[in-house]
Amino acid sequence: MKKDIKILAIESSCDETAASLIVERDGHPYISTTIISSQADLHSKTGGVVPEVASRAHMEAIAAVITEALSIDHSQKLDYQKSILFLQKEITHIATTAGPGLIGSLLVGFNAAKTISYVLDLPIVPINHIEGHIYSAFAREDDKSPGSLLVDSQEIKFPLLALIVSGGHTSLILMTDHGKYQQLGSTIDDAVGEAYDKVAKLLGLSYPGGPIVSRLASEYRDANLKDAISLPRPLINDKTYNFSFSGLKTAVLYSAKRIADELDLKEAKDLSEQTKEAIAFAFEEAVKDVLISKTQRAIMEYHPKAVVFGGGVAANRYLATSLERMIEGTESGTKFLKPLLKMAGDNAAMIGLAAYYHIKRGDVKKWNEIKVDSNWDLTE
Ligand code: KG4
Ligand code: ZN
Repeated sequence: MKKDIKILAIESSCDETAASLIVERDGHPYISTTIISSQADLHSKTGGVVPEVASRAHMEAIAAVITEALSIDHSQKLDYQKSILFLQKEITHIATTAGPGLIGSLLVGFNAAKTISYVLDLPIVPINHIEGHIYSAFAREDDKSPGSLLVDSQEIKFPLLALIVSGGHTSLILMTDHGKYQQLGSTIDDAVGEAYDKVAKLLGLSYPGGPIVSRLASEYRDANLKDAISLPRPLINDKTYNFSFSGLKTAVLYSAKRIADELDLKEAKDLSEQTKEAIAFAFEEAVKDVLISKTQRAIMEYHPKAVVFGGGVAANRYLATSLERMIEGTESGTKFLKPLLKMAGDNAAMIGLAAYYHIKRGDVKKWNEIKVDSNWDLTE
């Protein structure tokens, strides 16, 4: 008898070691387990990800993370033997992020996945990390069984426009079917999340900076204060769908330094909490305006059935709400999809969900047919 699909998915492209079990039930992929071991505390000491440190941390965490993902009884104690037995008996496919990302980080999860595929002679699905972020937005609570997440394939309609914004990527992608992608534009320098992290660093805030900068911006917004600092909106009137955030970050740096000088302070880090809030607010408004303007133009040109907002920065509720309002305002009937908070950052469930659709169309590989590519372009 043909076994139901059961995927062990692994992700380690940046600073989260993650594994997940995706099972097919009634023709839908369900997230059975999703385990994430974050290195955020480790990298907060250096104010950013140090690649060598990240790959070493992945090495330390990977076996336990996979074991936990395979512990479907959710037992607290790691039982390696039980997990291996489950792996041998139940798993039908392995999925792994194969790029893009930090090569030293990628290789840890990739090689773990490849080894399991080799030893157990299981088909393997190499997944592009960005594709994973797109699929993360399709997961939703199962009405019939609260607490469990699934993807209802019927609800995925094409063409679909994806705005993927994370620490490493900023892309506008047109998806015309499962596995069919067209890159409309991407950042020509820094990614949005990277800009958030750099702004945080120059203001003396910790890593990852996105949530902190965003919180400061909200304080300022909620207090209904006037926009006191003016910042550029790079490439907003440019005809392409490309983005640029490096100049915005530099403009933030100059503004912060100028204010610090005026107040006779040594560094931008010494600015008051209220001034940092004003800067964070001005920065987030500039980011919002650019993201909205480009996405709106793409909606007008391509008439997508839905817009997906994905990637770590999609955890930003203000940006998400602003995009949603803009889409409603277009009266195009376009749906807005964003990942649940726990699915926004890097995780392996999104890799397993994307893999499910590859498996459904027979797009699987043998362990010796796959390779890792730290610059893998989804649309090539
Ligand atoms: O997708 P992700 O976990 O990793 C990459 O693939 O890069 O994204 C991490 C990024 C970091 O730059 C982090 O600062 C940013 O997402 N981020 C946010 C928020 N939460 C995370 N940026 C802005 N607002 C947030 N609430
Ligand atoms: Zn990511």
